[in-house]
Amino acid sequence: MDQIIVRGNGPLKGQIPISGAKNTCLKLMTASLLTDEPLTLTNVPRLVDIETLSQVLESLGVEVARLAAGRVMVLSGRQLTSRRADYDLVRKLRASFNVLGPLLAREHEAIVSLPGGCAIGARKVDLHIQALEAMGAEIELEAGYVHAVAPGGLKGARIDFPFVSVGATENAMAAAVLAKGETIITNAAQEPDTVALADCLVAMGAKIEGIGTRELRIEGVDRLHGTTHEVIPDRIELGTFMIAPAVCGGEVELIGGRRDLAEAFCEKLEAAGVTITETETGLKVARGNAGIDAVDVTTAPFPGFPTDLQAQFMALMCTAKGTSRLEETIFENRFMHAPELIRMGAEIDVQGGVATVTGVEKLKGAPVMATDLRASVSLILAGLAAEGETVVSRVYHLDRGYERIEEKLGAVGADIRRTREHG
Ligand code: EPZ
Repeated sequence: MDQIIVRGNGPLKGQIPISGAKNTCLKLMTASLLTDEPLTLTNVPRLVDIETLSQVLESLGVEVARLAAGRVMVLSGRQLTSRRADYDLVRKLRASFNVLGPLLAREHEAIVSLPGGCAIGARKVDLHIQALEAMGAEIELEAGYVHAVAPGGLKGARIDFPFVSVGATENAMAAAVLAKGETIITNAAQEPDTVALADCLVAMGAKIEGIGTRELRIEGVDRLHGTTHEVIPDRIELGTFMIAPAVCGGEVELIGGRRDLAEAFCEKLEAAGVTITETETGLKVARGNAGIDAVDVTTAPFPGFPTDLQAQFMALMCTAKGTSRLEETIFENRFMHAPELIRMGAEIDVQGGVATVTGVEKLKGAPVMATDLRASVSLILAGLAAEGETVVSRVYHLDRGYERIEEKLGAVGADIRRTREHG
């Protein structure tokens, strides 16, 4: 297994290109199940999660071709050959569960493994199932699989989600585009990933109104056609790399970065004393010698502060002036990075969904363990600000969502390298 070794070595300077968004690309890929024509995606990130979903789609009969060194993906679901997504693949990637809606809408039957929980929480799928049942699907749970049938096809319905779920909104929307009649989804997710999926579906011939709002109105159509769609820049990768110069000083331009994808996050970073400037090619982030102020954060669905940037923001707050309160409202167990940061000398007290972080003068390098994707990267950011060497093990989590992280950070002057773990 690989590990990453980081040494704090002062300010960063230069440019980092932002890749296409993982969570957008994953959802766009599932749209290939809705048409017998090719769906071409550009600006595709090269990540393990993208590979895993490709395998899921291939197992259903979608042909996946990669061009331009993997940056372009052509998905052709001309004829699906299976309606079953196996546990072996779905357990590796929760987003695989989002094949359920499209598969059911097109084939009138889908058998998809339950994804199970994961390190950050139980992560139920009840809302996904209730939405499809509202559209007339008959669903049974059999030996860890969801078996859904809709003999005469899905029917439009009113779906009132009790709270915002990104995945359930996307699964329901991708099913409703081929249902008979109108579907109204309230409390819909407004995440840029969900908006991108809706935009792509519209380009494929779907009729969706209210895109980007809390209420979606979808008029089902008989068939969708192929299209070409560009994956938007990854706002979580962007936020992560914006924190790098914030923790260790310097000035870094994030090429392709867009403020509108991360406004709430940018405001918190500015409140902490970081300067953000929009440039012609992206966003420039600078931190002078004044240091970082403590800032409170509460995670919320978009347009709120993203849960996927909470761990990275905590790494920044570890050396801020004063005490900050970080509240996690989306997942019940998303502070696993806290004990690891404490190993590096951070002062953090976690009580339920609230972490209180009191800034210390300096963090100290230590061997630490990555527990999930965003927790892993927060340890790397903390390592950039620490004295001495930080060894982050179990970095396979990182490769699921960050493309060539050591190269990108190395190019702006960070002392970071990947080695093989012994033993
Ligand atoms: C998406 O997960 C993202 N994943 C997550 O990113 C992200 O953290 C999350 O949205 C929130 O922004 C992908 O897009 C692939 P949810 P998703 O359904 O769709 C509960 C990363 O690091 N819930 O909005 O699974 C759920 O348990 C990942 O890239 C139910 O109770 O998130 C959670 O507490 C991690 N029942 C809350 O809702 C359901 O049926 C929000 O989850 C569905 C969800």
